[in-house]
Amino acid sequence: MSTPDKSIDPRLLASAQEEFIKNGFLKAELKTICENADITTGAVYKRYKGKEDLFCAVVGDIADALYSAILPCVALVMIPVGTLFVINGTSTLADLVLVFCLSLSIGVPLLKALSFAGKFPQLNFKIEEIEKAMDNQPLKTNDNSFIGNSYIVKFDNVTFAYKEQEVLHGVSLELKEGTLTALVGESGSGKSTLAKLLVHYYDVNGGHITLGGQDITDMSIEALNDNISYVSQEQFLFNTTLYENILIGKPNASREEVIAAAEKAQCAEFLERLPGGIDTMAGDGGKQLSGGERQRISLARAILKNAPVIVLDEATAFIDPENEEKMNAAIAQIIKGKTVLVIAHRLQTVVNADKICVMKNGELIAQDTHEKLLQSCDEYKKLWDSSEASASWQIKNGGRV
Ligand SMILES: Nc1ncnc2c1ncn2[C@@H]1O[C@H](COP(=O)(O)OP(=O)(O)OP(=O)(O)O)[C@@H](O)[C@H]1O
Ligand SMILES: [Mg+2]
Repeated sequence: MSTPDKSIDPRLLASAQEEFIKNGFLKAELKTICENADITTGAVYKRYKGKEDLFCAVVGDIADALYSAILPCVALVMIPVGTLFVINGTSTLADLVLVFCLSLSIGVPLLKALSFAGKFPQLNFKIEEIEKAMDNQPLKTNDNSFIGNSYIVKFDNVTFAYKEQEVLHGVSLELKEGTLTALVGESGSGKSTLAKLLVHYYDVNGGHITLGGQDITDMSIEALNDNISYVSQEQFLFNTTLYENILIGKPNASREEVIAAAEKAQCAEFLERLPGGIDTMAGDGGKQLSGGERQRISLARAILKNAPVIVLDEATAFIDPENEEKMNAAIAQIIKGKTVLVIAHRLQTVVNADKICVMKNGELIAQDTHEKLLQSCDEYKKLWDSSEASASWQIKNGGRV
């Protein structure tokens, strides 16, 4: 068994296959893998593992060339030469017509078959990628429903490594019910990883994460999902309509509820511009939309879901200042009374958080309020100063980043 590839969401691939296949999510993920394989093995640049692959590719390319260059010439040569044979009496007109038809009908499938040789390296690569995805260990889950006694989240001495390298080293943190906890730290310090572990994208390597006292591995993924709204930094959308993408947050919601959530998340402005409005297709991974638009759709999904625990990873990172204000107002409304974890680069947006946690190199080095951290934590002071500098630079540049 190869090393599990954690760049692929194991929730979609390794566990509950039936469920996901039923919903078409697994199919979507596999399609993405195949398309990525196409990009890396297709015309842009070809990736060959060994001599056989290279040989197949060369044969395929030659066949392609023959197919496109020589085949159209067959008629050019055959008609004058054949006519000459018929005039000489070497051949009859019926023979000429027969040979002409045969050459056309045999040539095409033959060259097509040869050109298929070039696909073998791509097929090998695709099969390897799919096998790698399927080799992911299933997540540790249980069929139990949520039986926690509150919505307090606890990370207890959590360690985690994507491959060999550990990126979280014994993080302990409590998110109190009805409070907003902010996670800050330089890029790569492990903030998003911590959020992903909470929504059980991956299993921790050490320690525990509990919700209301119940270990998240002790409940089903569905039970955990029902209790957490997560707006990820990556803003992946499924290739269905934007309406359906929002509806995932609460499958039994009415159309009015979906539209209201979209409006709260400031989607109205760009939905009006789209030809099909909210019923426009998102494209693979949501590629029809900009980063900020995808983020607003993800936020609308979270608003619709209205779960007791909310995790927002850079939820307003791509939004222009005007929409950000409205969006923050919407966020302020939905997080009232919830257990909230907000990850933010711009520290100005979280100064009022009940608690700010500072991450550095996979460790939680301090946690306190803004004012206290400014006094006690050099790393926080450094982050704050650079955030202030970047904010004033933006003001000088008319709000543009
Ligand atoms: N899928 C992955 N596979 C391997 N390593 C990863 C993966 N995702 C993140 N990492 C690594 O884990 C570490 C923590 O990454 P993480 O995304 O949690 O940082 P972050 O604090 O959220 O950064 P940013 O502020 O840039 O979003 C980094 O060193 C990163 O390179
Ligand atoms: Mg991140």
